[in-house]
Formats: sequence, C-alpha cells, structure tokens
Amino acid sequence: MNNNLLISHAAELVTCSGFGPKKGSAMAELGIIGDGALAIEKGKIVRVGTTADVLSWIRAADRDRRAFDTIDASGKAVLPGFVDSHTHLVFGGDRVEEFGWRLAGDSYMEILRRGGGILRTVADTRSASHEELTVLGLRRLDSMLAFGVTTVESKSGYGLDRDTEIKQLEVMAELNRLHPIDVVPTFMGAHAVPPEFKGREDAFIDVLLEEVLPAAASLKLAEFCDVFCEKGVFTVAQSRRLLTAARQAGLKPKLHADEIVPLGGAELAAELGAVSADHLLHASDEGIRAMAASGVVATLLPGTAFSLKAPYARGRAMIDAGCAVALATDFNPGSCFSESVALVAALAAIHMNLSAGEIVAALTINAAAALDRAQVIGSLDPGKQGDVVILENPSHRFIPYRVGVNAVEKVIKNGVLVYDKLSQGGLRC
Ligand code: NIG
Ligand code: FE
Repeated sequence: MNNNLLISHAAELVTCSGFGPKKGSAMAELGIIGDGALAIEKGKIVRVGTTADVLSWIRAADRDRRAFDTIDASGKAVLPGFVDSHTHLVFGGDRVEEFGWRLAGDSYMEILRRGGGILRTVADTRSASHEELTVLGLRRLDSMLAFGVTTVESKSGYGLDRDTEIKQLEVMAELNRLHPIDVVPTFMGAHAVPPEFKGREDAFIDVLLEEVLPAAASLKLAEFCDVFCEKGVFTVAQSRRLLTAARQAGLKPKLHADEIVPLGGAELAAELGAVSADHLLHASDEGIRAMAASGVVATLLPGTAFSLKAPYARGRAMIDAGCAVALATDFNPGSCFSESVALVAALAAIHMNLSAGEIVAALTINAAAALDRAQVIGSLDPGKQGDVVILENPSHRFIPYRVGVNAVEKVIKNGVLVYDKLSQGGLRC
C-alpha cells in the first residue's frame, strides 16, 4: 500500500479550501468543484480540480496512473474528513440510570451536586484498567469513523487525581497509535470538584497546577487544557488562573463556557486568546462580539442542548456577528451520549438556522482551527493530509436533510480507504 489514491468524477468536490478558520459570511464559501477529482500521494493531497484537470496533471507530471488506487465518485459528494473537536471519549461505566432521572425531571447540575453525574463517571474511570478503557475507546472510535470522523479531540477529566488523569491521557495516546482516527488529547483535570475538595476549589486548582499538569506536560500527553467554567464548578477567576498557568506549561487554552448559566466564559476565552470556547448556550452579546474580534472559535454542541432539553446556542447570531463557528458532538456519558455527527448537523440546521454549507465548514475547516490544525487538515487543499469523506448522495446539502441518518459511505484516512459502508457490512476495513 503506497497511500496513493485518485478520486474522480465527484458530483460535488466540496474543498472547504483554506488554511485558517472561516469567519462569518465566509463560512458559506465552500469552494465546490463540479465533476471534481483529487489525487493523493503518500497520504498527502497533491492535486485538486475538475476530473479533466487532475487527469491531465497526472499525465503531464509523468506519473503512472496505475500507481494510484482509484475510486469513481460519480453521483456522490466528496468532502474533507470531519473533525470532532470536542469529546470526552475515554471513560468507564455509563449513566443510563441518570438519563432516566433527567427524563423524570432532575436537573443535570442537581445530580452532580448530590455526587452523581461527572463524579459517578470519575469513580467508574478510576476503577477501570488501562486495557478496559482502551477496548471501550476503540469501539467508540469505530463508530465515529463510520460517521466520517478522521480526527477527534478527547478530554481527560474523569480522574481528578494524578494517576487517573494520566491513565486517561495514556489511553488516548494508545488509541491514537492503534486506530486510523487521529486522537488529539486535552487535559481537563478541572472538570468537576472532587468531593474531598468541596468548598476548597482553589486548593484543588493548586493540586492540578503543582502535581497533575506538570506530569501531563512533561510526558507530552496533552496539547490543550480545558476547564468547566460554570456556576457551582470553577469560577471565571479560577479558570483564568488555571489556563494562564497551563499556557506557561505549553498547553493551549480551551473552555467549557456559558453552558448552564451566563458567566462570562466567552469573554474570558477572548481575553485569554483561547483556541476555542465551547457550548456557549448562554453567551452574552458582548461575549459574541469579543469572540468575533479575537478569533476564538465558537464551538457549538447542539446534541448536548437537545439531550439536556436546554436552549440552543445562538449559532446564527454568532455567524452574523462574524464568529468562526465549529460544530462537535460533545460525546460523553452524561450530557450527550452520542457520537452522531448526523444528529449534530440536523440540529444545527433546524434549531440554529445554519445552512448546509455553514454546517460543513463548521465540521471541517473551523473544527480543524478549533484544534489549531487548519494548516494540515479540514480542507481538500494540496499539501494537507489525505483525509476524505464520500457521501452516498450527490450534494453536501443531504447531510442535515437526512435528519439524524448517516449519509457517509466511505472514509479515507491519509490516502487509505479505512471505512466502506458497502463492504463487510460497513465494518472498518
Ligand atoms: O461538555 N459540562 C461538562 N462536561 C461535559 C459533560 C460531562 C459529563 O456529564 O460526563 C459537557 O457537557
Ligand atoms: Fe464537553
């Protein structure tokens, strides 16, 4: 296998061309090529254009056409691989019981306050072995791959102590080695206050900064640092302190911001120059303006709003204000136990009034920017990784239109076909 691939005759080649986030009205500019093709050599995209252009380039460049595996994408849309830029992928146990409580009227935060919620998953993750977490992670990644995901971000935060946080991050590194999906690790030790630190949140942040973060940083196990900046969890001041120190240790800042109540998380993200601010259900007008001005990627997670029966983030207003919006699943055992990119897309269309084009930009180039990777993934541009999705349908507009149904037929990672719905009953190939 030489990772050389030619995809030709795409009804729509949706390039999402660009090397940085698309802000505001630029999100609708997808650089679509009819009867499109792309050539990948040694895992990297080398040529993008009409089929006629790419075939004549292969001839002119004196390349041997037979050195390329070929896929005829007639009648299908071809897009960059999706980037799921916000997940909590590695955890033990489940919260199926809590789901029932929430349906019966308990609130997410009430359940956390009485020691359940995230803290329940902390107990289950502390007691799970590295091997158990790895097997669970691989199964979840297989499911994500079928939804077209070629890069996923994964947060720790179900340990809240050094050993378990490091165990989670080590499992992520192993998943990255074992699975075709690239796994991008985020340290989120400040995901909840462990019971032994209740009322002593600052002391807990001290422990994270003195013991846990240095271990994660010196082992090079995390690229980003995230914090649950929320009423009853960590304040704006505590979040600022943590993220400032994390940056000094080489970790780029992200925030769970304004998820349950308006707290000024979006403003803090802008002040710190965070890579992204995520959730934002209750982001203020000022916070939206600040994110647009500072270039923080506003990462919206409509599956979580749906699952919590909460109001949706104001995605339309954010784009109209000039923000770069990304969409992600927030896959986790509590507030959104779903890896369905298809559901996220439908909810963004129906409840946030995003167009199909904006949704595609939000799942590709802007999600890549939310992981500081817009230079290498997120679009079909020469020089980028050969990460590609082929749909069953002729246009990207089918993605939200097929409400909650997965329109992905094939997934290519670094130039290699790694998933095909049409072969082996759709198993990873
Ligand atoms: O993004 N809000 C905090 N963290 C997650 C949920 C984690 C959990 O409930 O296990 C979120 O919603
Ligand atoms: Fe989250």
